[in-house]
Amino acid sequence: MSILVTGGAGYIGSHTSVLLLNAGYDIVIADNFSNSSEETIARITELGGRAPAVEHVDLCDMAALDAVFARYPIDAVIHFAGLKAVGESVAQPLFYYGNNIVSTINLCKCMEKYDVHQLVFSSSATVYGMPETVPLREDAPLHTLNPYGATKLVIENMLRDVSASNADWRIALLRYFNPIGAHESGLIGEAPNGIPNNLMPYITQVASGVRAELSVFGSDYPTADGTCIRDYIHVMDLAQGHLQALKKLPTINGIDAYNLGTGTGYSVLDVIHTFEEATGVTIPYRIAPRRPGDAPVSYADPTKAHTELDWKAERGLHDMCKDAWRFQLQKEDH
Ligand code: WQD
Repeated sequence: MSILVTGGAGYIGSHTSVLLLNAGYDIVIADNFSNSSEETIARITELGGRAPAVEHVDLCDMAALDAVFARYPIDAVIHFAGLKAVGESVAQPLFYYGNNIVSTINLCKCMEKYDVHQLVFSSSATVYGMPETVPLREDAPLHTLNPYGATKLVIENMLRDVSASNADWRIALLRYFNPIGAHESGLIGEAPNGIPNNLMPYITQVASGVRAELSVFGSDYPTADGTCIRDYIHVMDLAQGHLQALKKLPTINGIDAYNLGTGTGYSVLDVIHTFEEATGVTIPYRIAPRRPGDAPVSYADPTKAHTELDWKAERGLHDMCKDAWRFQLQKEDH
């Protein structure tokens, strides 16, 4: 079976590509390398034991994308490609709407044209906005707090309409909670450009001395230690969720959404302390003002993915921290 993996050189895409190769799938990675590196392809090849086909294309370029579909026999698509920085999306909303939505429209048009109707889409727990109750089930109310989140929700809604228009479509919307960690080899991981927006890459950069200290955004939330609670999930568990979703696609009733989380919430201070225990490195931090738009508490009810996809997160926070740190150390060796 041959899978088109858009954004396959990115953080979650690269880990999923390795597992797909390990599981015997043929894959075609389509990436514009705007937030990923060609070097990652060599690492995927090493860990996957085989080389993926690679197409350096931007999905917003319809002719280039069409050529990819013309060139390869594709059975299903996993669509990771997209811009994902919340702050940048607030500063450049048209860039975010334009890129994320146009690329997905082009992808669906090509899929229709080439009679490919199986799609796994990278959605996000951000579609739940400020959760009213936790744990979050897939039928919780959806609303968004920033343009990045809005693009995910617009695409979810668009895919529902697409699926309703033609009974051939089989679409899985995977709502990721907070992916962290790295492949246990340390060869691939999360490598953001510039100052990290997300907690774990910031922590690993403080640990390695690239940054002096971590700012903890708010300590007066209504939680046990006053800091925000999130459902951190190991990127390898998340990657495995995509393989399970792929297997499920043929029997999906048109379109369905699945939470990919562990079901357990940890505070920012829990993450700092677990990182310190797992690595032996101290993280200097100071309490800073709240970051606008942060939900106090968010974690998944992952029951649906468990029962319908036969998937469950297996790795704990300790492993997530250890693996994230191994990747950071390995990166510095190069
Ligand atoms: C986690 C916690 C911060 C940085 C975001 C997007 C979401 C999804 C994943 C991806 C929060 C705190 C963070 C720091 C801190 N998108 N924090 N100091 O906000 O849950 O989710 O990333 O593509 O759509 O919104 O994740 O890692 O940014 O923050 O105290 O320097 O860590 O306040 O409580 P978040 P995060």
